[in-house]
Amino acid sequence: MTAALTIALSKGRIFKETLPLLAAAGIVPVDDPETSRKLILDTDQPDIKLVIIRATDVPTYVQYGAADLGVAGKDVLLEHGGEGLYEPLDLRIARCRLMVAGRPDRPPRLSRPRIATKFVNITRRYFADRGRQVEVIKLYGSMELAPLVGLADYIVDVVDTGSTLKANGLMPLEHIADISSRLIVNKAAMKMKHARIKAIMNRMAAAAGA
Ligand code: ATP
Ligand code: PRP
Repeated sequence: MTAALTIALSKGRIFKETLPLLAAAGIVPVDDPETSRKLILDTDQPDIKLVIIRATDVPTYVQYGAADLGVAGKDVLLEHGGEGLYEPLDLRIARCRLMVAGRPDRPPRLSRPRIATKFVNITRRYFADRGRQVEVIKLYGSMELAPLVGLADYIVDVVDTGSTLKANGLMPLEHIADISSRLIVNKAAMKMKHARIKAIMNRMAAAAGA
């Protein structure tokens, strides 16, 4: 008997880009999360299920063992802290950069600048490590708006083509980290279901060119 496995994925970019890697490991979902309202998806393997959750919740499900495996952006993992999980494989998908961005025409405020972001832990750590005093404002999306309406002086967000920044009159200012998505594994599952997980990991790694 092989061990049953649950894999946590988010809809959209990560699901689409993980699909070929899962297929390489012989795992094909039966339903499409873009059209199905189901949150637990069957696959062609009776003992492998996918759970479809918000990108920022993937590390939490894996940390607590509600999912054995997951795929999460390095930005989300840095923000989460990585407790209770292994991060054995860079899947090299959903690549972008975590950046500080702001208005090119605005001289920086001399007192504590305000930074709007959904990555509050990463942002606090980045500025504290450099001895720079900032006030961090937590947002849940559309960070690019904050400097335009005077909510913040800068934002910290992911940048790929730069077109979202450009469309809002912002420019990238400081590079915090290169980002790609990682396969993450619950620590207990890595021990208990090692052979099964290792086989999937090896096939995904080969397909990702890792
Ligand atoms: P949520 O829905 O919980 O707010 P999200 O909108 O950040 O999450 P996605 O947009 O699907 O979720 O992004 C998932 C991951 O893909 C991010 O954590 C990041 O690592 C990466 N990513 C985000 N935006 C881009 C982009 N424009 N280009 C490439 N990769 C990106
Ligand atoms: C992400 C991110 C930026 C944008 C950057 O948003 O929050 O807004 O991509 O990409 P770019 O540099 O190529 O413009 P996404 O497209 O994922 O939409 P979201 O706001 O729903 O997360």
